[in-house]
Formats: sequence, structure tokens, C-alpha cells
Amino acid sequence: MKVLLIGSGGREHALAWKLSQGASVDKIYCVPGNPGMAELAKCENVDLPTGDLEGLAHFAEQNGCQLTVVGPEAPLVAGIADVFESHNLAVFGPSKLAAQLEGSKSFSKELMAKYNIPTAFFKVCRTAAEAKTFINVKGAPIVVKADGLAAGKGVVVAMTKEEALAAVDMIMADKKFGAAGNTIVVEEFMPGEEASLLAFTDGRTVVPMIAAQDHKRVFDGDKGPNTGGMGAYAPAPVMTEELKYLALKTILEPTVKAMAAEGMPYKGCLYAGLMVKDKEVKVVEFNCRFGDPETQAVLPLLDGDLAEIMLSCSQGNLQPGMVKWKQGAAVSVVMASAGYPGDYEKGKEIKGLELVPATELAVVFHAGTAEKDGKIVTNGGRVLGATAVAEDIASAQAAAYEIVSKIKFEGAFCRKDIAWRALK
Ligand code: AMP
Ligand code: GLY
Repeated sequence: MKVLLIGSGGREHALAWKLSQGASVDKIYCVPGNPGMAELAKCENVDLPTGDLEGLAHFAEQNGCQLTVVGPEAPLVAGIADVFESHNLAVFGPSKLAAQLEGSKSFSKELMAKYNIPTAFFKVCRTAAEAKTFINVKGAPIVVKADGLAAGKGVVVAMTKEEALAAVDMIMADKKFGAAGNTIVVEEFMPGEEASLLAFTDGRTVVPMIAAQDHKRVFDGDKGPNTGGMGAYAPAPVMTEELKYLALKTILEPTVKAMAAEGMPYKGCLYAGLMVKDKEVKVVEFNCRFGDPETQAVLPLLDGDLAEIMLSCSQGNLQPGMVKWKQGAAVSVVMASAGYPGDYEKGKEIKGLELVPATELAVVFHAGTAEKDGKIVTNGGRVLGATAVAEDIASAQAAAYEIVSKIKFEGAFCRKDIAWRALK
């Protein structure tokens, strides 16, 4: 089949890489893609505006794409799946209504409350006064979240009341995130260890993937400001088989069932950000797409034809037996530009990529790169994801850092401790 893939980051490179390994796939059009994706067998980058949903559907029709895979949340929340379905085009990803699970934190929290899905106690606030009263009553630590999409920056985990009150002003009065902050969710702080559990679903059947763990802080030991994610590994031992089963039965399946009951069936990848404490799991957030960088660590361990799985999700005939996993572990280390997550320079030449030809066990996913005068240069804060698969996490970690050591660009830095929680 021919596949249309929307997106240009490390997650999309990993999706394209895995899709291209499937026997069912002949060709992948990547819109807009990145230089790493362009090098993959079967892949071709296409320069089309990703905001033009009708234009993308037209492209899929003209080029006979039997499946469209949407990487980022923005087009899903904007309704790309609805537009494609109105053209009778198969698409992997939830409808506009279903994507509210990520697009609106008040929607997802209220759904969880209605269907008894475990999550932090919360209050949806539509005025600053209401939010401040709640914070003054509850005290710190407490968490303040802008309702809408804020590129991962709309959450303040406040250790003091003052910080929480200031966050309310930043989101509601200063409109730091625009209309995304018209409503806020204030919620109880959950202690524990985080894990990401992603699942394939066709709207009824839910098949979890192996659990992963992201590293959101910029510096070793989980210090410094939050980033888009500095690395990931899978499987995450914090998510024992027992806890994974608990999450499937109390979170993933009930959520998919709830969405169907609400008349907005959820199809695609359901990403549950979970907090694990003792023998309990609670939802931190839902995302309506694959995680970045979790995908870079999870998909290398998938043993199966990704396009077939995705097509069955879109057609409503997903079978658990289609999703198999390889033995072993994967670690993906993000190489970032100096200054990230603050300001950084672009356009630095990247050397050494040819020393790491992509194999089943080692691959460098491009996240923020561009091609300039025949050279690959940096073009973002998170530049590359050095990814390795091995028999266990310690060996995968060593192999991933071996890849890192071969690649050079001015100002490059990475965390030196990706996967530390699994090895402690
Ligand atoms: P979110 O975008 O909702 O995932 O929040 C971003 C990050 O903030 C999460 O990955 C957690 O590290 C943290 N966080 C969010 N909500 C809570 C909570 N209720 N308790 C503790 N940490 C949280
Ligand atoms: N790694 C966090 C996310 O994809 O939202």
C-alpha cells in the first residue's frame, strides 16, 4: 500500500522507519518529512502545507494513498481525521471530537471523573478568582494547567501557593498561551514515578504497547527546565506486567469505552501519561498521538507490520495478535542544540551521520535537521535521537551513547543518564 505520513520530527522519522520495514508498504509520502526520512527506502518528502487539510486529502486521493498516518496533535485537534473520512480515506488518528482528550484538559478530566478513571482530584476553573480560591483552600504542592494545547508548556507544578497563584495570572491574565488559557484545570499534586503507556485502538479493542519512560528535564538527574523530552527507553520496568494490566483494565479500556459511549469513538494511538506510586496507577494526561521521544524507543521493538496494524485500527478490526514485541530493550538519546530549551542557534553542520547506517539495532532519528548545500545542518532544539536496541537496557544504553560519540555538531549536548531509573 501507499502511505501518507504527516509530520517532520523524530517521532515521524521513527514512524516512517518502522512503516517502511512492513511488507505491506510500497511507498511513503512524508509531508513535509525531514532529511532523515528522505533517505529511507520507500520514502519521499513532499512539500505541502500541513495546515491545509483539504489539500492533504486531495493529495492522498491523487496519489492513491490507502492509509494516512498523522504524527502531531495539532492536525488531529483541527479535525484532519474527519476531513479524510469525509473523502472515504483511511486515517490513523482520532476525530476532532475524540482528540479533545488531548486538546482540552477540562474535557479529559471531566470524562475521567464521570467514568471513574483514576486521576488527580481537580477543579475546572473559568475565572482567575475561582482558581485562586481553590488554591488557597488546597495549598501547595498543586498543579495549574492551561486547558488547551500549549506545546507542552502549559503546566506549572507549583511547590508553593505563591507559585500557583502566579501561574494562574500568567495563564489567565497575561494570556501566555492565548485562548488555550481561557479555562484552567487546577489539580492535586501526585507523587510517584511517571511512565508512558501507549496503545493501539480501533475504538473498541485496545492493545497496549510496551511501556516507556521519557526524560522531560534538560539536565542529568532530572534537573533544570522542562523540554520536549531528552530521551526515552523501553520497556520501563516501573510498569510491571501487573501494573500494566491494571492500567489496561482501569484506564485504557474504560477510556475507549467511555469515548464510544459519549458518541465520539476514539481510534488511533491513545497515549496515557501515568503516575505510578506503590501499587497504583493514575492518569497525568492523555495525548491523542504517539509520544516524542517515546516512539523512538518503542517502535524499534515492535515485531509486526505497522501499516497493517494502523489500517486495522482505522477500519475497526484490530486483533491483539497483530501486535507482537521483540525481546530486548531500546534507548533513544536526544542530541540537542546549545541553549535548548531556551534560545539556540541553527544551521550548524552535523558530521558523522554516515558512520551510523540505519539497521534494526541502531538508527539515528532526525528531529530538527535540514539540508543546506548538500550538507545536513541543525534546524531545531532537539536535533537527533541516537537510538539503539540490545538485549537489555544497560547494553542498549551503552550502544546509544556509542552512537552519540560518533556524531558531532557545534554546541551539541545530551543527557548522559538516559534510562537511569531503570538501572538504579
Ligand atoms: P502534562 O502536560 O499534563 O503531562 O504535564 C506535564 C508534566 O507535569 C507531567 O509530565 C508531570 O511531570 C507534571 N504533572 C502534571 N500533572 C501533575 C500532577 N497532578 N502531579 C504531579 N505532576 C504532574
Ligand atoms: N514525550 C511527551 C509527549 O510526547 O507528550
